[in-house]
Amino acid sequence: MKTGGNTVLITGGATGIGLALAEEFVKAGSEVIVCARTEENLKQAKDKLPSLHTKKCDIAKEDERESLCDWAVANFKDLNVLVNNAGIQRMIDFRKGTADLFRHRAEDGEDEIEVNLRALIYMTALFTPHLMKRKEAAIINVSSGLAFYPMAPLPVYCATKAAVHSFSLTLRQQLEETPVKVFELIPPMVDTNLDKGARKARGQTYFGLTTAEFIIPVMQSFGNDEYEIRVQDPKLAAMRGDHPGGPSVGQKK
Ligand SMILES: NC(=O)c1ccc[n+]([C@@H]2O[C@H](COP(=O)([O-])OP(=O)(O)OC[C@H]3O[C@@H](n4cnc5c(N)ncnc54)[C@H](OP(=O)(O)O)[C@@H]3O)[C@@H](O)[C@H]2O)c1
Repeated sequence: MKTGGNTVLITGGATGIGLALAEEFVKAGSEVIVCARTEENLKQAKDKLPSLHTKKCDIAKEDERESLCDWAVANFKDLNVLVNNAGIQRMIDFRKGTADLFRHRAEDGEDEIEVNLRALIYMTALFTPHLMKRKEAAIINVSSGLAFYPMAPLPVYCATKAAVHSFSLTLRQQLEETPVKVFELIPPMVDTNLDKGARKARGQTYFGLTTAEFIIPVMQSFGNDEYEIRVQDPKLAAMRGDHPGGPSVGQKK
């Protein structure tokens, strides 16, 4: 896919990997819209990238997803790229039964399955008919290396990302004869606020690639139509002493 001349909607695009993608698409000459729930993050993203369009939206809520789709299609008729990037990550210990699952819901009202999987599937369904009318279009699903090498403290997160991988495979097949290309972006550990400090709490001292390091090979891979973009972090692999893409931190060999 070309990285310039697009109109791109990035969910969760006000911070981290989503914001890095927004910056690169803007640099390449694309118009970019980002959505997220936190107004302050959207404002800061807009201060950083004045050409950015921002929209407050909780993609885990059906009515907000539908309003986002109506608004985006009405205001950005050339919209041709959807980046399903928004995600959350929680530590869940099943030895405590349902305690962690309910605690996260009570503390922040968030559910990994709702945000990482259900919302991504429904966003795809809402936008695909519009994207199919464009001459060239793309859906970019952000999964994770943990889809392939799951890690014990993050069982639900890893399962949602494995499902995103499976969904991306079948979606790519379904849309093969349409103008919509389906990409899966598979990040390694990247230093963002995704884990809300849990990595540090688990005793980790290395927090992964910076978004700047991560994004360079990603944009090249979009340009080369590499549909599964698996970014490796040699530093992490060397620290673990495993072969590239080997077992995850915390997993016994
Ligand atoms: N960082 C890593 O190591 C890593 C590795 C592999 C994969 N990933 C994936 O990369 C993607 C981006 O994560 P990141 O690392 O860049 O973390 P991040 O900075 O926390 O970005 C996640 C974004 O998603 C947004 N979001 C969360 N729930 C949302 C909702 N219900 N509706 C709308 N927006 C929502 C957040 O904004 P609000 O809270 O303001 O809504 C936030 O801006 C995620 O899918 C993550 O799973 C990250």
